[in-house]
Order: sequence, then C-alpha cells, then structure tokens
Amino acid sequence: MAPTAEFLSSPRVKSFNQNMNNVYDKGLVKITPSNCTQPVEFMEDVQAILDFEVKPDDVWLVTFPKCGTTWTQELVWLLMNDLNFEQAKRTPLTERFPFLELSSIITGVKKPPVHSIDIAKNSRSPRLIKSHLPVELLPRQLWTVKPKIIYVTRNVKDVIVSYLNHHQLWLGCSLTADEFAEGFMENIPKYTPFWDHVLSFWKLRNEANILVFGFEEMKADLSSVVGKVAAHLGRPVPEDQLPALLDHLSFQKMRSNKAVNFEERVENARQDLGLRPAASEGLKFMRSGAVGDGQQRLSEDVRRKVDAWTDACLAGSGFDGPR
Ligand code: PPS
Repeated sequence: MAPTAEFLSSPRVKSFNQNMNNVYDKGLVKITPSNCTQPVEFMEDVQAILDFEVKPDDVWLVTFPKCGTTWTQELVWLLMNDLNFEQAKRTPLTERFPFLELSSIITGVKKPPVHSIDIAKNSRSPRLIKSHLPVELLPRQLWTVKPKIIYVTRNVKDVIVSYLNHHQLWLGCSLTADEFAEGFMENIPKYTPFWDHVLSFWKLRNEANILVFGFEEMKADLSSVVGKVAAHLGRPVPEDQLPALLDHLSFQKMRSNKAVNFEERVENARQDLGLRPAASEGLKFMRSGAVGDGQQRLSEDVRRKVDAWTDACLAGSGFDGPR
C-alpha cells in the first residue's frame, strides 16, 4: 500500500512553525507507516525513495539526526577509500557521501540543483549513502539485497539539545531547550518519533549485514569502534595508520575541517532565510561533541518528563543502548 500522510495540527505545531521562520508553512505531516514526521513536500518523493534500487556493495549509514552521522560518515568514507586523508580534506563530505532524501526534506530555502535521490543513485560504486529515514520509509530493497548497513544511536537528551542547535543553526529557531524538548516528545520535529526509529533498528542489530552502536561508544573508545566498523566493512586499518585516523576524526580536527563542518552550507541557508551569520550568534554545526549536555541544558522538570516518556516508549523492549 502506498504511504499516506495526515497533517499535524496541534497548537504546538503552529507555534513550532512560527518559531522556525515559517519554513513549514505548507504543513508537517505524520506518515503511515512509521508515524514519521516530515514536511508535506516529502510525500512527492516517498514512493521514489521506497523504490530506490539498492546495490549489494552499497554501504548505508542510517541514523536519527544528531546521533553522530557526520562523524561516522567520515570514518566510513576513509575506510572505504584507503584512508585518503588529502582527498577527504579537499572534497566536501556531502559530495563524497550523498544524503538520500536531502532534497525531499528541504523547505523554505533553495534546493540543490540536482535532486539528492539522483546524486545517490548515480554515485560511484561502492556507493556510500546516508539517510535519516526510519525502517518503514527506507528503500524496500535494503531488506532483500541486504547491503552493509550501519546504524548509530545516542542519548536522547543529548539528541534533543543537539537537534535544537541544528534548528537554530539552519532555521533560526527561537524555541528554548525545554520548549523544543516538549515538541520532540510530541513528535513534531522531522524524523520523530525518536524511540520508534531507534527500536526498529535495534531489533535488527543481530542481522549479519547490520552494525549498531552508540555515539557514547565512539566518545569512550573511538579506536574500538573504528575496529568494529572496519571489520564490518572488511577494510582493516593498518596499525601504523590508526593514530592518524583517530587524529583526523577528533572533535577538534573535525570542527576546523571545512570539508565536514558544514560552515559554507549553513551560511548559504541562513542567507536564504535572512538570518545573521551563524558565527555572530555563536552557532556551529560542530557544537560541543560531548556526552551529557542534555543533562545541563534541560530543566529538571523537563528532564524528568523525558525520562518518564522514555520509560514508557521503551517498556518491554529490553533495549540496553544509550538512553
Ligand atoms: S546530522 O545533522 O544529523 O547529520 O548531525 P550528526 O552528524 O548526526 O550529529 C552532529 C553531532 O555530532 C557531533 N560530532 C562529533 N562529536 C565528537 N567528535 C566528533 N568528531 C564529532 N563530529 C560530529 C556534533 O558536534 C554534533 O553534536 P553536538 O552535541 O551538537 O555537538
């Protein structure tokens, strides 16, 4: 059955749009199956995405936004490209590792000239493809062709704070952290509901072609995660090259690396919306790269609400990942 969409219409949705420079003026919808929230414009491409042809040697990186996508993309690209650091620094990650549904989710600002689905389709094999879509909206062939898939998750309060920063950076969001968190629990931001997204991949974690890990594992022991990803991809890292790889992937290095820090793209998007430069607002895509910011930035009351909501969403699931 073709996916269907239902407009979100609560008062909080209206205020969410107003606080995002009205980029969702055409409406946000909840898609069935998945309950995933997207701007209604996404529905123009939903079928093309489901029918996207998957190749056995593709590598797919799937995450809920802000879980460590860019960090993992850079790692995967380097492993798949003989640790070619020079090329990695010269070429924007967005060109090296296409984002499948990017053109389908952009609203209110200029879209890239070529549709992201075509960019992903025509990229050179082995193709590396990023997506934030939930299991039910990803290309159906992923479940029959079974290419390598990597899924990264993260502590939900840290995701909320990082996702708020994302909305401030790209859309000039004027909500407070607590207001954003309330909207997050009501499944208003794109790609929510968060826990459904995580749980459906977590249930697939023992499939041979799927590797699941957490942002927190990367922070605690990056070299062990590098080992896991390298083994998953069959691209071992020569021992003498590991220090250079870890250094390249460090937060400080990635923060100042123009090929991965989105500085130029952010400024273009902000100009389209008439926003002041990100630097003048103290905003950066590579914000803090830390574990535990959610604990600092959300009020005690909202932290308690997030905990109770998380408990309810995870009840009976046996989930033992970051929460
Ligand atoms: S996106 O927009 O969904 O693709 O964002 P994503 O890349 O998933 O997440 C961005 C957060 O990842 C942090 N990040 C890192 N942390 C530590 N080390 C490295 N190398 C690194 N690279 C990216 C980035 O800072 C965002 O997290 P916050 O908490 O906002 O700082």
